[in-house]
Amino acid sequence: MSNPTPLLRVSDVSKRFGGVQAVGGVSLDLAPEEIIGIIGPNGAGKTSFFNLVSGMHIPDSGTVEFDGQDITRMNSTDRARAGIGRTFQIVRPFSGMTVAENVMVPLLVNNAHVSTAHKKSLELLEDLDIHHLADTPTEALTLAQRKRVEVARALATDPKLLLLDEVLAGLNSREVVSVLPFVKRVRDRGVAILMIEHIVSAVMEVSDRMMVLDHGKVIAHGVPESVIKDPKVVEAYLGAE
Ligand SMILES: Nc1ncnc2c1ncn2[C@@H]1O[C@H](COP(=O)(O)OP(=O)(O)O)[C@@H](O)[C@H]1O
Ligand SMILES: [Mg+2]
Repeated sequence: MSNPTPLLRVSDVSKRFGGVQAVGGVSLDLAPEEIIGIIGPNGAGKTSFFNLVSGMHIPDSGTVEFDGQDITRMNSTDRARAGIGRTFQIVRPFSGMTVAENVMVPLLVNNAHVSTAHKKSLELLEDLDIHHLADTPTEALTLAQRKRVEVARALATDPKLLLLDEVLAGLNSREVVSVLPFVKRVRDRGVAILMIEHIVSAVMEVSDRMMVLDHGKVIAHGVPESVIKDPKVVEAYLGAE
């Protein structure tokens, strides 16, 4: 079932905030170049799980291994350097900067030369079909455009693992359809992807496997077609919405 050498191995992680068990004993193996979609009702613990993988939070118990290394206690900056890139559910581009400058920041933080960072940022913007916006201030962008900038920024440092937290939320169906091929293209270039998403049909289309969280626990896990038919999943969604 699980790959003998997963890129990411999360074993039985838990995280409590006061009286809330945000994540309660979640395990997940992710192979290189695999896309796993994570779904679940609001408050299920999806973002908290991402925070345990990205180093924003340290788990109360359990372990996180990445690329053969135990990173359970590693901070988020070192995890980003080790190859974990992420987007945030609330998109917060640096204001007072252009789109290209926003994408250059993570490269400059990693000591790239300014000209190298500029070239790389333009390549990423081209990949995401927003190169025409390179010199536009981020304040002037639509939500869909800001989300693309966020993805470009997460990809700037060539991560081995990309964490996408609801990058499709708030986009219209045409915009959603236009982003999905890009997600697959990133994977085809050798990046593993964990993707939290509300639009189940969109997650199903790109995911190799899916994991469903509810109240901090995994209630279903497997190939998309069987996961969405699971009575526990149907109930969690009907109960929540
Ligand atoms: N930093 C935090 N401090 C306190 N409670 C939190 C924090 N982060 C998440 N929670 C709580 O943990 C639960 C799971 O939240 P979250 O992981 O954001 O869910 P999801 O992303 O699935 O909607 C919620 O009850 C939320 O209020
Ligand atoms: Mg969330």
